[in-house]
Amino acid sequence: MKAFPAGFLWGGAIAANQVEGAWQEDGKGPSTSDMQPNGVFGELVERKEGDSALKDVAIDFYHRYPEDVALFAEMGFNCLRISIAWTRIFPNGDESTPNEAGLAFYDDLFDELAEHGITPLVTLSHYEMPWGLVKEYGGWGSRETIRCFEHYARTVFSRYQNKVKLWLTFNEINMSLHAPMTGVGLPNSSSKAEVYQAIHHQLVASALAVKACHEIIPDAKIGNMLLGGLMYPLSCKPEDVFETLQQNRSWAFFGDVQCRGAYPGYMLRYFRDNGIEIEITDADREALRTTVDFISFSYYMSGCVTADEALNEQLRGNILSMVPNPHLPSSEWGWQIDPLGLRTLLNMMWDRWQKPLFIVENGLGAKDHVEADGSIHDDYRIAYMNDHLLQVREAIEDGVEMLGYTSWGPIDLVSASKAEISKRYGFIYVDREDDGSGTLARSRKKSFFWYRDVIASNGANLE
Ligand code: BG6
Repeated sequence: MKAFPAGFLWGGAIAANQVEGAWQEDGKGPSTSDMQPNGVFGELVERKEGDSALKDVAIDFYHRYPEDVALFAEMGFNCLRISIAWTRIFPNGDESTPNEAGLAFYDDLFDELAEHGITPLVTLSHYEMPWGLVKEYGGWGSRETIRCFEHYARTVFSRYQNKVKLWLTFNEINMSLHAPMTGVGLPNSSSKAEVYQAIHHQLVASALAVKACHEIIPDAKIGNMLLGGLMYPLSCKPEDVFETLQQNRSWAFFGDVQCRGAYPGYMLRYFRDNGIEIEITDADREALRTTVDFISFSYYMSGCVTADEALNEQLRGNILSMVPNPHLPSSEWGWQIDPLGLRTLLNMMWDRWQKPLFIVENGLGAKDHVEADGSIHDDYRIAYMNDHLLQVREAIEDGVEMLGYTSWGPIDLVSASKAEISKRYGFIYVDREDDGSGTLARSRKKSFFWYRDVIASNGANLE
């Protein structure tokens, strides 16, 4: 079987708020994630002295990263996707001078990665923003947040210009439609018009960050990041097919703006039909013309769409309001497993945007069982990833240009949707339970050795 292209980036992806812990250390300010101890869809909880959340310590990556990076290197990673916690750099979000201790932490982390030959891929904002910006300005509802974000982006581009050449702007930028507080710092009860205005501000900020990155680090590449929400029609009824087109546009719209540099006509019609008026200035239009260098995305599952409202109400299930596919199995968390869907999605994105693609999240959240001798036989995770990677290889054969693959959560971490650690994605097990007990010790699962062999053979050993 064919291997992956030479220079393919292999590794894993983590996010600051799901691994670092140290939520109040070295001058870090509170973020929206700190105010959502129950997960990205959860209600806001104003933190009081003495209360605690699993994410406060998470897996203590802040203090243990040298051990973790060494384990990633042992698997042969040549890439690690991380995110910078904006609140380590600007605790309130609107300061003019950055917090040196926060900057120093990431300097040290990048140095550690460099020593192991691991290329960092850095997300500027992964499901969190400074709480100060939410309280004082109303999050991305305000143009002031664009200014603060651009200042933050320019600060980290300047500081890490010799260490980081691969960047991403906003994680799963389309998730704001489903989780407004997490995505754009707006109350979850906000109207569609308010959410789309905030999204517009974020799209402008993303484009300004791309421009700044090109100016400050000319040899860097910067991409967007989408939740690849692939939808199929539940039947071949033309109404179902058309509704599916619309649903796929609800996420592809973000990619259209970020890759083509302007709002697509179907979106302007959606705004008109729904009485949504967005303030888009000439300066905004000019800013949006700067497009991303590559497209990155997450892929976990696919779903179905029906135009039949009654059926919709009856069947609609998981977080993205998808209708379940009767032909697919599901994970323990109800996420439908669809490896071929990944090939379909890669081809769709390539056909649509003709920019290199980077899968920056994919994996199986599952409960692991630790045997008496400490071993963990996670064959289900191996099967999931093997089957998905085979489809990636097929897509490459189809002519899709690909930069790399970073699996989600190469080390167990706190889940975004439920803020629990028992939903494990890792090749590396972390001894911690949902109630916060455990030693935080790391150990290698069976999949650790499997992924090491996949990387060593550049994908040639997949079966
Ligand atoms: C993506 C996010 O939505 O999916 C990650 O970018 C998240 O932050 C991942 O962890 C898996 O979701 P969950 O809810 O299982 O953690």
